[in-house]
This record gives sequence, C-alpha cells and structure tokens, in this order.
Amino acid sequence: MKGSDRLKGASVLVTGASGMLGRKLIRRLAPANQITGVSKSGREGAFACDLAKGADVGKIFSRNFDLVIHAAAYSDVDGCEKEPQLAHEANALATKNLAALCGQKGVPFIYVSTDYVFDGQKKSPYRETDATGPVNIYGLTKLEGEYFTKQLAPLSAVVRTSWLFGEGNPKSFVNAITQRLKTEKVVRVLADQEDSPTSVEDLSEAIEKIGAHWLLHKAQKPFQDVFHVCNAGSTTRYGLTLKIREVLGLENVRVEKMDKEEIKNRWALRPLYGVMSTDRYERFFNVKMRSWQESLEDYLKEEEHASKVTKKDKN
Ligand SMILES: NC(=O)c1ccc[n+]([C@@H]2O[C@H](COP(=O)([O-])OP(=O)(O)OC[C@H]3O[C@@H](n4cnc5c(N)ncnc54)[C@H](OP(=O)(O)O)[C@@H]3O)[C@@H](O)[C@H]2O)c1
Repeated sequence: MKGSDRLKGASVLVTGASGMLGRKLIRRLAPANQITGVSKSGREGAFACDLAKGADVGKIFSRNFDLVIHAAAYSDVDGCEKEPQLAHEANALATKNLAALCGQKGVPFIYVSTDYVFDGQKKSPYRETDATGPVNIYGLTKLEGEYFTKQLAPLSAVVRTSWLFGEGNPKSFVNAITQRLKTEKVVRVLADQEDSPTSVEDLSEAIEKIGAHWLLHKAQKPFQDVFHVCNAGSTTRYGLTLKIREVLGLENVRVEKMDKEEIKNRWALRPLYGVMSTDRYERFFNVKMRSWQESLEDYLKEEEHASKVTKKDKN
C-alpha cells in the first residue's frame, strides 16, 4: 500500500446513497469525512436528485467536493431490458452528467461498473485489458457510463465489480434467497452462470483505498484507471445458495438446480462467466481480497445477530 488507505477530512459526494453499496460507503466514510449522499427518491436520508437531469446535478455541485463516488445505477438487469430508456438515463446519462462536472471542476471521479460489460465467453478470469462486449441492456448502458467517464473525467477510476451482497436491498440475490431458505422447504435455483459474489463491505474498503491514494498522490495531474474488485473464488447461484444454507444451519431445506426455461419474466440474457482477475488491484495496493465464502459468512452472521437484537428489543 502506497500512502494512507483511509480518507480523512474530505468532502465526498456518494451517489446511490440508498442502495446496497452507497449505504455501506457512507457508513464507512461518514465518521472521518463530510459526506453528501444522493439518491433518486431521497430514501434513507439522502438528497433527492435524478442524476439524469443535468440541471439538478449542477445544483449539487454548488458544494465543493474533493472526491465523487458514483455508486448509483439502475441495477435490475431484467428491469433494464424492459425499460431501456430508463436504463440509459440512470446508467449512461447520469454518469455523463457527473463525469462532465467532475471534469470541469477537476474533481477525482470513481465510477462503479460491472463484469456484465463482458460477453461471458472467456474461460479464465477477465482482465482490465480484455475486450468488452455486453449481452444485455444493463451491461451496455454501464459500458456507456465507462465511456463517458473516460471521455469527460480526466481524473477518474472505473471500478468493476460483481454479484454484490450486503444489507439494504431485499431483492438482491443473497437477501432474497436467505429469506426463502428460512420460509420454504424446497428452494430451486439456477446454476448456469459462474461469477464472484462480492461483499459491499470489502468493495467499500477498496474504493476508499483508491480514493485515498489519488487524493494523496495524484490529484494534481491527470490519471485514468480501471480496477477489477471482487471477492476471491467463484461459484454459481446454486453453489452460493448451498453456502448460505450451510452458514445458517438450514440443512433441512432442499436446494435443487433449475433450468433457465423454468423462469418466467427473465427478460435479459446473462454472461455465463463473469469472473474477473483482481491481480492488478491487489498488486497496486499490496492487498489480498478475501474469499467470497469468508465474507459471506461474516455478513450472514452479522445479519443474524442484528435481527436477534431487533427481535429482543421489540419483546
Ligand atoms: N448489485 C450487484 O450485484 C452489482 C454487480 C455489479 C456491479 N454493480 C454496480 O454497483 C453499484 C451499486 O449497486 P447496488 O446494488 O448497491 O445498487 P442498488 O442497491 O440497486 O441501488 C441503486 C441506487 O441508485 C440510485 N439511483 C438509481 N437511478 C438513479 C437516478 N436516475 N438518479 C439518482 N440516483 C439513482 C437509487 O436511488 P433510489 O433508491 O432513490 O431509487 C439507489 O440509491 C452500481 O453501479 C451497480 O451497477 C452492482
């Protein structure tokens, strides 16, 4: 690690403040920094702002920021396929507006992107230099966001990640399947995609390292970078479900593999393989990403503990 890996005393704009990653970033950074959190609806105490509306984004920038972390997105992959215009606005246009303002004002910009920018045909982990080729609207609009970041923000980093888990989104795979394992006797899941489940806790730590490094060392001269950040190892949704079942001690629930054809309302194609190499990030910062199993276990145990405390408080 070169220099300090924590941000201190910085004014930071975090978008997606009501989302899984944004909430975690704010919780991590707020004690030592001045945070402005923005979301579309203004949930979770965030400022309400539709980032696709340039004039509204301009108003946020009446404040001065040392760093912008853009974690907002339309992240529902099937939703993007059904509502491509909304996907374009939230993922591409919003990023264009933010990147342009960061470019004009010389503010470092971190854009959170996805492994879904790749086509999933590779048989070994994707590197930052591999060709992109999204197979769905979500991936395409996130890639547009990467393009605008590169074009408009001379001080910028694209951080690609995959299969996030954390609190704040009951529809995310880990949270939804945990609920089902607790309430159903048989749970059927897909085993068609291979990817790296990633903890928003570990991703937030990485994003802070990247931001802190650049604020300390590089903010005076142009830099542009791409990093892949995800937990180590890979699995399918079936494998992920078996691990959740094991950690929660729910072996009495049967977990079965299901076919894609059985799923209704699956609008978007998925890349079948999304595993990314984190070598570049790990070497740059001299760190090792934890395995997805270790991070998942920590997350599920914390959630179990939190729900027991809440139940006790209610009684
Ligand atoms: N989830 C994953 O598995 C995954 C995988 C790879 C990459 N990523 C990327 O990681 C980042 C964080 O994902 P997440 O799962 O934490 O997201 P999330 O939980 O779905 O939250 C999305 C956030 O974006 C905000 N938002 C959406 N459209 C907006 C707009 N037009 N203007 C302002 N705010 C808007 C939402 O605000 P409201 O709540 O007010 O609507 C919400 O705060 C995203 O960039 C996503 O593409 C996610």
